[in-house]
Amino acid sequence: MQAEALPLVEALDLVEDDLSAIFPGGVPWKNYSGELDGLNVHIVVPGKDKALGVDSVGTVPSFLLTYATGVALQPNLIINAGTAGGFQAKGANIGDVYVATEFANRDRRIPIPVFDKYGIGTIEAIPTGNLIKDLDLKEGKVSTGNSLDMTLQDEEHIKANDATVKDMEGAGVAYAANLLAIPMISLKAITDIVDGTKPTVEEFLENMSTAASALSRTVPPVLKYVSGKNVADL
Ligand code: ADE
Repeated sequence: MQAEALPLVEALDLVEDDLSAIFPGGVPWKNYSGELDGLNVHIVVPGKDKALGVDSVGTVPSFLLTYATGVALQPNLIINAGTAGGFQAKGANIGDVYVATEFANRDRRIPIPVFDKYGIGTIEAIPTGNLIKDLDLKEGKVSTGNSLDMTLQDEEHIKANDATVKDMEGAGVAYAANLLAIPMISLKAITDIVDGTKPTVEEFLENMSTAASALSRTVPPVLKYVSGKNVADL
């Protein structure tokens, strides 16, 4: 979402680029570029829904944008930075930033042998134990789906996935990164406690700027940390 990305764009002193030469005409995607510690940094966001004018969220826009950007810019690393819900039973607090260790879908239920596993589509994150330790970050598994609310069936999937973090993009971005064989790190800042007492929407809106600030404090050190390192050393 724009509200997640703009504080980070500011923190990294990036400027909006015209990418019409490499993206299809008419897409609402936005790209902000700059340089940090010798890295070429691009923040891409899916922009506004063409019909309704709200931020495009969920797995379809995030997959498509990641795939198109991956093909166009051939990055060495993709960082999926965004907000998410967290489970207090697994230690999550508002404003925490988690590094994802695994992604699974919670809303792709296909009860046919093997397709059931395909639906869940578990993807392991690249190992980032040094990054997590050196920058004192939290780590946890991510459950991705296209709804902000949580049905009982979603909850069962989340428990089976042992997830700490509940988002709407991670597994889609991971699928694109995996297809293109580009290493990916996912950083998720917690806006709401899924197993808490407050209504999700209220808590999400209330804490969006806290979580966005946490992201804009965390992403620059992560970029500095990865700069000049091999993926195997993360
Ligand atoms: N993004 C922020 N909070 C979320 C939640 N509870 N579920 C899914 N995505 C989210």
